[in-house]
Parts: sequence; structure tokens; C-alpha cells
Amino acid sequence: MSLSFAITGKGGVGKTTLSSLLVRQLLAHGMKPVLAIDADPNSCLDAALGLKATSTVGGAREEVRQEAQAGTVTGISKQEMLQWKITESLVESAGFDFIAMGRPEGAGCYCYANNILKSIITQISGQYPFLVLDNEAGLENLSRRIMQQVDVMVIVSDASNAGLQTIVRLHGLADEMGIRYKKLILVINRLRNGELPARMEEIRLATGAERVVALPDDLTVATFSEGSRSMLELPDDNPVVLKIDELIASLSDATS
Ligand SMILES: Nc1ncnc2c1ncn2[C@@H]1O[C@H](COP(=O)(O)OP(=O)(O)O)[C@@H](O)[C@H]1O
Ligand SMILES: [Mg+2]
Repeated sequence: MSLSFAITGKGGVGKTTLSSLLVRQLLAHGMKPVLAIDADPNSCLDAALGLKATSTVGGAREEVRQEAQAGTVTGISKQEMLQWKITESLVESAGFDFIAMGRPEGAGCYCYANNILKSIITQISGQYPFLVLDNEAGLENLSRRIMQQVDVMVIVSDASNAGLQTIVRLHGLADEMGIRYKKLILVINRLRNGELPARMEEIRLATGAERVVALPDDLTVATFSEGSRSMLELPDDNPVVLKIDELIASLSDATS
């Protein structure tokens, strides 16, 4: 089987935490190799996975651009060089690999490189049956930079009214951008009293989401993150870990 996830939501809602825990529980279910893609320039999925990434795809693109401008590379070797640099920025770990997209291109669009980039990323990600993509809320990476199709789209939010509105907005944005997914899952993170907001079912129906997952606000998760500790080191019986485990188990039953 194969399973790809794209995680989105506004800043600070728990996308990176959730992404790292999805990687963790995919591995726990023997669903590997996993490719974890950090597609949020403001993110540090590498730290959440206990890694340190020193280079990014965006960095590779800039280096090749500069070398091309300096006239040191020409023609086909430009593509080869980009491919090589991107492959070099892959970080290998136990059961999963990691790649960071880095910053998107600046003002002067380097479309040639972006097209090559997309094909290289498509080629790399095609080698992994399991994918977890930690996205920014703009969805740009999903719509044109990396992939337009995933199995499971996850929108994360807090339980506030504004958060719920963002869910509806992001759902609309994904549709507008032509992002295709088989299932939509809504995650309400950091619940303090365990109760989902009263409007939740209305939001679920409005977005066509298959289910809503409630994650508790957990002191251990927060403490790990403050200490830059890997989410892979959380105890197996951590309440947030258990919830993600349930989710992965239900998806593997449905798709196997
Ligand atoms: N369920 C949770 N319980 C406690 N703290 C959490 C939980 N989920 C996320 N956090 C904390 O919230 C902060 C933001 O989470 P993060 O995953 O970085 O969000 P995002 O990637 O959406 O910006 C981090 O400090 C993280 O540890
Ligand atoms: Mg993040």
C-alpha cells in the first residue's frame, strides 16, 4: 500500500508536531520508507524528527542559479547539477528520509529551475510509498511546486471560532487551486477540555471531511518541543501519540 499526507493550517496550530507524529506512527505500523517533506519555510520539521538539515531544495536552486549566471554551468549540466544538489540535501534516517524545501524563489522568477525542481521532487517522492508533507497555509507548494495530489489532506486548527473559519477558507483555497485529495481530515489541536466546538459537525459537513480528530493539549509534547527534543522520543502512551496511532490504524485498515 501507499499513503500520502499533506498537512496544512495557519501558523502555530501544530502542523509540524502533527507531521512528525504521523511519520512516527507510520513507522510504528511498519509503513515505510517514509519521505518527510518540510514545505514550510518557517518550520523546523527536522528538529521535530530529531534531525538537522543543513541544506534545502531552495538553497540548491539558488546555488545552481548563481553558478549558471557566473557561466560556470551550461545546458544539460545545469539540470544534472540541480538533481545532484537536491539529492545531496536528502537526510537519511531510520525508516525515513527528510528533505526541506527552504525558501520559495525570490522576486525574479527562475521558472526554468522551478520546472526542473518539480520534476526532480516528483521523481524523488515517487520512490517512497509513504509521504508526509508539512505545508505552509498558502498551499503554494501543493498547488505548483511539489505535488497536486495526495491521499489525505489534513487541515489543523485550534478550537476557536477564527480557527474554524480558517478551516473553511483553506478547504475553499485547496479547491480553487485544484489540489486533489481522496480524504479530508480535520484535526482540532490542543483541546483543553476534550470537547469539540459546537459548530464542528457543521464545519465537517461544509468541507466534506471524512472525520474530525481531537488532540489534547499535552504538557509533554509542549515541553519536548521547547527543549527541541524529537517527537520520536515521546513515550508510546502519550495521549497525543495514541490519537495519531488510532488515525493511522484506521487509514491502514481502509486502504490495505
Ligand atoms: N497537542 C499539543 N499539546 C501541546 N503543545 C502542542 C500540541 N501541538 C502543538 N503544540 C505546541 O505548539 C507549538 C506550535 O506547534 P507547531 O507544530 O510548531 O505548529 P505549526 O507547525 O503549525 O506552526 C509548538 O511549541 C508545539 O510544541
Ligand atoms: Mg511548522
